[in-house]
Amino acid sequence: MAAENRTGSIEGYAIVSEDGMLADAAGIMPDSLKFDADQRFFEQGLDAVDVVVHGRHSEDHLARSHQRHRLILTRQVAAIAPHGSNDGALLWNPAGATFDEALRALGNPGAAVGVIGGTEVFVLFLDRYDTFHLSRAPGVHLPGGRPVFPQVPIRTPEQVLAAHGLAPSPARMLDPERRLTMVSWRRRPVKE
Ligand SMILES: NC(=O)c1ccc[n+]([C@@H]2O[C@H](COP(=O)([O-])OP(=O)(O)OC[C@H]3O[C@@H](n4cnc5c(N)ncnc54)[C@H](OP(=O)(O)O)[C@@H]3O)[C@@H](O)[C@H]2O)c1
Repeated sequence: MAAENRTGSIEGYAIVSEDGMLADAAGIMPDSLKFDADQRFFEQGLDAVDVVVHGRHSEDHLARSHQRHRLILTRQVAAIAPHGSNDGALLWNPAGATFDEALRALGNPGAAVGVIGGTEVFVLFLDRYDTFHLSRAPGVHLPGGRPVFPQVPIRTPEQVLAAHGLAPSPARMLDPERRLTMVSWRRRPVKE
């Protein structure tokens, strides 16, 4: 798929079970949520962003991961701090610095951003996503797992996205054999 990110855009990427979970009850993403077609879609998306944002347990491990600028959320720092071993990364605590401050500190103001989770990170951007790409693994259930948003499973991921001003595009079949679909939820234009 052609890259669709643009300057200043914020795109979320998640693959969830039928019950809306990102990972199992132990916080581990099981093989049942891993699909080559979804990985390719995810990697193409991240190749088009300037900055990846994720929690301390959710780093991407893709071919060009080391080249990506990233903000890693953690409460181990007060606001913004160097990563230590990765010059292209900063540790960020949203309680101490705004997102725009963190992007400026990274040298990427106005960056195209990819948000890749986990739960607490996805929820932080619910009112800011331009697009949220939600893949759904059919037949996979992870009761008691880590939900894509804290409101799940009381509400479905789709209900949460709709409540935050996003609307679904037509579903795209990423893997016909395994019936893996992906829906890009895009921000509805604000009425004048
Ligand atoms: N299926 C998917 O699409 C998908 C997507 C993402 C992750 N996952 C999977 O989900 C599992 C990890 O889940 P997780 O929820 O533990 O992931 P996580 O968000 O990557 O890590 C949680 C940690 O990030 C930091 N953090 C998160 N929100 C923060 C906030 N608002 N302010 C400051 N720090 C914050 C905290 O770090 P400190 O403890 O350092 O304070 C927290 O302990 C992994 O198995 C991962 O592979 C799956």
